[in-house]
Formats: sequence, C-alpha cells, structure tokens
Amino acid sequence: MTPAADGAGVVLRDVVKTFPLGDGERLAAVDGVSLTLEPGSLTALTGPSGSGKSTLLHLIGAIERADSGSIAVDGRELTAASRAQLAAYRRGVGFVFQRFHLLPALTALDNVLVPVLPYRNLGFDRAERARELLDAVGLAGRESALPSRLSGGQQQRVAIARALITRPRLLLADEPTGNLDSHTGRAILDLLLGLRERHHVTIVLSTHDASIAAECERVVDLLDGRPAVR
Ligand SMILES: Nc1ncnc2c1ncn2[C@@H]1O[C@H](COP(=O)(O)OP(=O)(O)O)[C@@H](O)[C@H]1O
Ligand SMILES: [Mg+2]
Repeated sequence: MTPAADGAGVVLRDVVKTFPLGDGERLAAVDGVSLTLEPGSLTALTGPSGSGKSTLLHLIGAIERADSGSIAVDGRELTAASRAQLAAYRRGVGFVFQRFHLLPALTALDNVLVPVLPYRNLGFDRAERARELLDAVGLAGRESALPSRLSGGQQQRVAIARALITRPRLLLADEPTGNLDSHTGRAILDLLLGLRERHHVTIVLSTHDASIAAECERVVDLLDGRPAVR
C-alpha cells in the first residue's frame, strides 16, 4: 500500500497540555508526547479512558492549544500561529466523532455541505463533491434521507463524507467506531482505509477496540498522557 504523498505530515515534540484540577493543582492530560506522523499514514491512539487520546487529537487539530512543546504540520508551527492562522488551519482538518454529530433536521446531503456553508468560492462544485463523497462512503441514493432514517453506521458514513468535503489533508477521528457494533465498526475502518488511498489524507484515530487498532499500520498506546511502556 503506497501512502498518499500529499497528506499532511505532523511532528510533535514534548507536547504538554494541562487542565486545572480545582485545588490549584493541574492535571497533565498530555504529558510530554513526541510523535511523528508521516504524510498519508494511519495511526491509532489507544489506551484506557482518560489516557489523553481525545486531548491529543484536539491539540493536533488545534481545537486546544498546547501549554508547551511544539506541533508542526508540514513544517508550520501551530503553537506559534495566530488565531486567524489556526482558524485557517482547522478548515484543512476533517473531524469525525464517536456520536456522529449530524444535524437532525438536515438531509444527508445537506449535512455533508455544512462545513462549506461559509464559503462562496471553493474552486469546486460543492453539491457535486458532496454527492461523490456520499457515493464513496456507500450512501448513493440516500442523499435525501434524514439522520433519523439512517442506521448508526450510515450516520457515521455521512459524518465521514462531511469531514472530507473541505478536501482536508488530515483526518482526525475520535473513537469513530465507539458507538457501533463490531461488524459495523470494522466496515467503517475499511472505509477509512479506502478513503486514505483515494483522498490522500493522513489519518489519526482513537479507539478502545484492539481489533480496530490491529488493522492500523501504527498504534500509539497512551497511559496517563504518555506513550505507555508495557
Ligand atoms: N476540558 C477539560 N477540563 C479538565 N480536564 C480535562 C478536560 N479534557 C480532558 N480532561 C482530563 O484529561 C485527561 C485526559 O482526557 P481525554 O484526553 O479525554 O482522555 P481519553 O480521550 O483517552 O479518554 C482526563 O483525566 C480528563 O479528565
Ligand atoms: Mg476520549
């Protein structure tokens, strides 16, 4: 399998993120992580609840800012970026969540279009791309369906199509199979593997599921905010 050459490359060095505990102390949710994600690679973050998987994804996606350390995406340092630069960066990152987060009143097609609503000129036909993506995730013919008419696995497929509409070079998926039965979860992983090939994207996902992690080319096992030594 040839990795996509134009996915983003991410280099983390000694990244620390703390949260206040309320008693004046701080908890290190991510505690000195150094990690290199090659362009087009697929990495699984594993580890028990509270080990820092979501926080690490939020740092890479610039939803949270690191307290210290360095996160460079294609050589550009996130920790030094302005708010406007971070907003622009986030537009190039696709996010997928455990609970899908579809808008219930919108059709599958309109949900896929949500991330591009603010933009007038995209350089591509948004409706055409949304249809292509729904086709690519196996939902051709379901464009007009409301989320309530779709199964959990189908809803996650819509969410993945939505994450890809901006042509991201980096896709971050926080327990994307966590609300799905193992068979459906496996199908979603296979979908992500295929999309990585076709859409040239670097993928980082978190998972509790050892059988999902086993299919990923690289596993980073976290414990207390650090790669675990087991
Ligand atoms: N916004 C927050 N405020 C306070 N503590 C947080 C916040 N986000 C995460 N944490 C804490 O950081 C640690 C790591 O959490 P998280 O990254 O969500 O782990 P995981 O995704 O592996 O379950 C946990 O102890 C969690 O309670
Ligand atoms: Mg989490």
